Amino acid sequence: MLSSALVRVLTLLGIVAAFLLPTTSAQASAPLRTHAAAKGKFIGTALATGPLGSETTYRTIAGSEFNQITAENAMKWESTEPSQGQFTFSGADQIVNFATQNNQQVHGHTLVWHQQTPGWVQGLGATAMRSAMQNHIAQVVGHYADNPAVVSWDVVNEVFDENGGWRSSFWYNTLGQSFVADAFRAARAADPDARLCINDYNVEGINAKSTAMYNLVSSLRQQGVPVDCVGFQSHLAIQYGFPSDMQQNMQRFAALGVQVRVTELDVRMQTPRDSSKDATQATYYRNVVNACLAVTACAGVTIWGFTDKHSWVPDTFPNEGFALPWDANYQQKPAYTAVHDALAGGTSGDTTAPSTPGTPAVGTVTSNSAALTWSASTDTGGSGLAGYNVYREQGATDTLLGQSTTASITLTGLSPSTQYQVYVRARDGAGNLSGNSALATFTTQSGPGGGGGCTAAGTVQTQWGGGYVIQPVTVTNTGTSAISGWTVTFTLPAGHTLTGSWNATLTVSGQTVTAKNAAYNGNLAPNASTSFGFQVARPSGDTQTPSAYTCA
Ligand code: G3I
Repeated sequence: MLSSALVRVLTLLGIVAAFLLPTTSAQASAPLRTHAAAKGKFIGTALATGPLGSETTYRTIAGSEFNQITAENAMKWESTEPSQGQFTFSGADQIVNFATQNNQQVHGHTLVWHQQTPGWVQGLGATAMRSAMQNHIAQVVGHYADNPAVVSWDVVNEVFDENGGWRSSFWYNTLGQSFVADAFRAARAADPDARLCINDYNVEGINAKSTAMYNLVSSLRQQGVPVDCVGFQSHLAIQYGFPSDMQQNMQRFAALGVQVRVTELDVRMQTPRDSSKDATQATYYRNVVNACLAVTACAGVTIWGFTDKHSWVPDTFPNEGFALPWDANYQQKPAYTAVHDALAGGTSGDTTAPSTPGTPAVGTVTSNSAALTWSASTDTGGSGLAGYNVYREQGATDTLLGQSTTASITLTGLSPSTQYQVYVRARDGAGNLSGNSALATFTTQSGPGGGGGCTAAGTVQTQWGGGYVIQPVTVTNTGTSAISGWTVTFTLPAGHTLTGSWNATLTVSGQTVTAKNAAYNGNLAPNASTSFGFQVARPSGDTQTPSAYTCA
C-alpha cells in the first residue's frame, strides 16, 4: 500500500506536470496558462469568494486563463481565525476546491500581517502573541499540508517602511524582529514541503526598502531560517513610472539563493481611462512579465484579480482604477494582449535555426574596439530573427564578445596589440542559433586606448535619521575610446558605515570606499554610462552624505 506521503508526492507531481508540460501546439490564441507553462512559469490571479460563487464569466476566465490562484482575502487571519482558537476554512476551501477542479496550484496569502488581523491578536502580550502566532500558522498551514494544490505561503507580509526601517506594527512593537524568524520556523514545521515566502510592496526596484528586504533575507538564510522565496507585490501606477531596474533587483535576490515571484501585479491609472493610458499600462504589464521571464529564479507572475469589476484599487485610491487586464465587462484590454504576447514570445515549436550570417567585414579598429558588419540572416521557423552573437575563436571554448540586434557591431573592451579571430551566429526568438559565419581576423592597435577617462556622480535617492541610499552613482566614459573596467572612490563622513551595495564590488579602508565594476557593467563605449548604488548607516542627527566621487 502506498504511504500517504508517497500518494501526496505522486499527486503533486501529476499536478505540476499537468500545468508545466509544454504544449507543442501552443497557438497565439491559447490562454495565458498554456504559454506560461511552456516557459516553465506560473501565471496567477487572486480570487474573491463572492464573484467566484455567483458569476459564471468570472469562474470561466479564472479557471481557463490561470494556473495559480491566490485567495485575495479568504486565507487572511480575520477570515480563518476570527476568534481565538475558532478556525473557519469555508472561504479558503472554496478557493482551494476551485483551484483543484481547474488543475491550478494555490499560493497561501497571508499568515502574519498587520492588516486584516483581529483585535484579539493585537491586544495580546508578548508571550501570548508569539504562541497565538505559532498556533495560527500551525493550524492554517497544517489544514492544507496534505493538500497537493497548496504549494506555497506568504509567511510574513509588509514588515518594512518605505525608508527601509522596520514597520511599527503591533507585531514588531510587541515582539521585535524575532517574530519573522519564528513565523518561518513555525510554517516549516507545519508543512516541510511548502515554499515559504516574504512579501512586500514598493520593493520592485532597487531602493531603501528593497535593500532592507535583501539584507533581512540574506541574514535570515545565514542563520538557517527557512526563507525560500521573495514576493514582489508590484502594485504599480502609470503616473509614477515603471521601476526599470526590476529585473536587476530580482536578479540580486536570486543571487541569495531564493526563488523570486511577482505576487500582486496591477497597474492603476488616474480616471478617466483612455486609449493612451491603456497603451502605457500594457507596456508596464509586458515589462513585468519580461522581467520575470528573463530571471531563471522567477517562478511566475500573479495578477491581483483580473477584472476591473472586482478590484481593490478604487476603494483605496479615489479617482484611480482600471488596473487589470479585463475591463468591468470582462472584455480584454491591451494589457491582456501584452501579457499574452510576452508569455507567448519565442514561440515554442520553432526548432528551425536562422540562416548563417555572411563573413564579417572589419571596419575601424582601435586599441580596444573593432567595428564589424556582415550580411544579414533570415529566419523561417516562426519566432523571427532576434539578433546576432559575436564570438572570439579560441579553440575549445569560444568567448562571446558581444550581441547585436542588427547586422553590425562595434566590439569594445578588447585588449591592445592583440590578434582576434571572430565569427557571428544569428539567433531567433526561440533561442535557436545559426551555424558559424566564416572567420574575420584583425589586430588591435597598441595601447593604452588613449583619450580614456571617466566621471562619477552620486544621487541621494532617499535618506532618514539613521542612514541613506545613494542610487544611482552614474559612471560615464568621458573618453574617446571604450573602457573595459572602472574604479570609483569616495569618502564616507566619520561615523558612517556601509551596509549594502549593488552593481559594483565595494571595499572599505578606513572611511575610503573603493567601488570596482561588476563583471557585467565594466565595458563602456565612449559617452556610455552605467550605475551602481549603496546604502549607509549614520549616527542619528547627522545629515551628511559623501560629497565627491572620483573615477579612474
Ligand atoms: O467583507 C466585507 C463586507 O462584508 C463589508 O460589507 C465591506 C464594507 O467595506 O467590507 C468587506 O471587506 C473588505 C474586504 O476587502 C473584502 O472585500 C474590506 O473592507 C476591505 O478592506 C478589504 O480590502 C482588501 C485589502 O487587502 C485589505 O487590506 C482587498 O480586498 C485586498 O485586495 C487587499 O489585498 C492586499 C494584500 O492582501 C496585501 N498587499 C496589498 C493588497 C492591496 O491592498
